[in-house]
Amino acid sequence: MANVVVVGTQWGDEGKGKIVDWLSERADVIARFQGGHNAGHTLVVGGEVYKLHALPSGVVRGGKLSVIGNGVVLDPWHLLKEIEGIRAQGVEITPETLMIAENTPLILPFHGELDRAREGQSTVAKIGTTGRGIGPAYEDKVGRRAIRVADLADAATLELRVDRALVHHNALRAGLGLEPIDREAVIAQLREIADEILQYAAPVWKVLTERRRAGERILFEGAQGALLDIDFGTYPFVTSSNVIAGQAATGTGIGPGAIDFVLGIVKAYTTRVGEGPFPTELHDDDGQRLGERGHEFGTTTGRKRRCGWFDACLVRQTCATSGVSGIALTKLDVLDGFETLKICTGYELDGVRMDYLPTAADQQARCTPVYEEMPGWQESTAGARSWADLPAQAIKYIRRIEELIQCPVAMVSTSPEREDTILVTDPFSD
Ligand code: GDP
Ligand code: IMO
Ligand code: MG
Repeated sequence: MANVVVVGTQWGDEGKGKIVDWLSERADVIARFQGGHNAGHTLVVGGEVYKLHALPSGVVRGGKLSVIGNGVVLDPWHLLKEIEGIRAQGVEITPETLMIAENTPLILPFHGELDRAREGQSTVAKIGTTGRGIGPAYEDKVGRRAIRVADLADAATLELRVDRALVHHNALRAGLGLEPIDREAVIAQLREIADEILQYAAPVWKVLTERRRAGERILFEGAQGALLDIDFGTYPFVTSSNVIAGQAATGTGIGPGAIDFVLGIVKAYTTRVGEGPFPTELHDDDGQRLGERGHEFGTTTGRKRRCGWFDACLVRQTCATSGVSGIALTKLDVLDGFETLKICTGYELDGVRMDYLPTAADQQARCTPVYEEMPGWQESTAGARSWADLPAQAIKYIRRIEELIQCPVAMVSTSPEREDTILVTDPFSD
């Protein structure tokens, strides 16, 4: 039986939600393994739009187990609100269909405040975070002062954990000119939601191991994209977790041998939200057109996404760091009607040709993209559901991408709708 990991290969918003939703029909369990409600995954099913942030995209299909793994940072108040909103759209969510790892660290209100206070400082370049406390929550996890789901079950433990966190946070807040945290209020807030959250708590590592042994299929749903990875992304303009495929194992508690196929989600052009380098960014009519046709506004913050040509050099690199077995190429329809398409094949750095993006920030800034051009297509690909529906020139564009990134296409997506999807190779077939 095959287990599949879905990861973003660019700067996020590649269409992971749509593809996870499509693939979830073939899976029994859908598990998030990193990130938090900084993610925004949009699903469109028969015209109904679902926007998911903390919940795995598998919840929308009935009869599947959705899992929030320990690699996630969880804002419990946000989660409860999101559950309420999704339930109002007619989706059933119960402790039988949703499970949260007991060792998942929580995002508290002071994490969001710290995130926003730091972003507001004018002395250093801001990251452009979602302001949802993701960075501070991961810092507390690694700093061994996080409050985790299991801590909600015991009043005395909870108080000890809160005290440990506050020693650090109050010192930091004093330096930032923020009021000290009201200890009793934090404890009361946590106790208020404890039982509601604990009904979903489980030893996820054990459940996944048992399910796997019973022959069930697990679909691991990544958030963000490889260029936002804390180690391999465009540091420091990244998120605070590992987002590449290896994280699926540590972020749920299943060994790496459980991963049979890594599906990299690749947008047919490039977008980025927030600050940081972006070699193929466009500031002209073509960039404007990509943004308009692709509706490139953030699902989480509503910010306008920066747009640019497809960067094959970067995707070749991220397919390597995630060990991608095959890609799902999304939003091909957004390129319909372009006279000419450009693809970045590498960079020029101080007169030298580079076949990867260097790590040093000053070198990244001096890299200029090397482009090759291809004629576009004038026919519509929107809604295409088979290879035969694609214009010859669109097929050439796909084939050229495969060559340049050294990875085969397993799926193509041609609209936001679930069924407007072309399957080339089934990631679940073993
Ligand atoms: P994610 O964060 O990777 O799940 O991606 P988002 O949901 O944030 O952004 C992708 C957007 O593109 C969403 O609004 C999707 O509904 C939409 N989308 C996904 N696939 C396609 C596609 O093939 N064509 C078009 N036009 N839109 C798509
Ligand atoms: P999905 O899962 C796009 C970006 C933010 C910012 C940086 C750090 O929908 O693809 P953070 O709040 O994580 O500390 O912000 O990361 N970012 C995303 N960009 N898609 C996402 O998720 C993102 N999650 C975080 O814009 O640049
Ligand atoms: Mg998104």
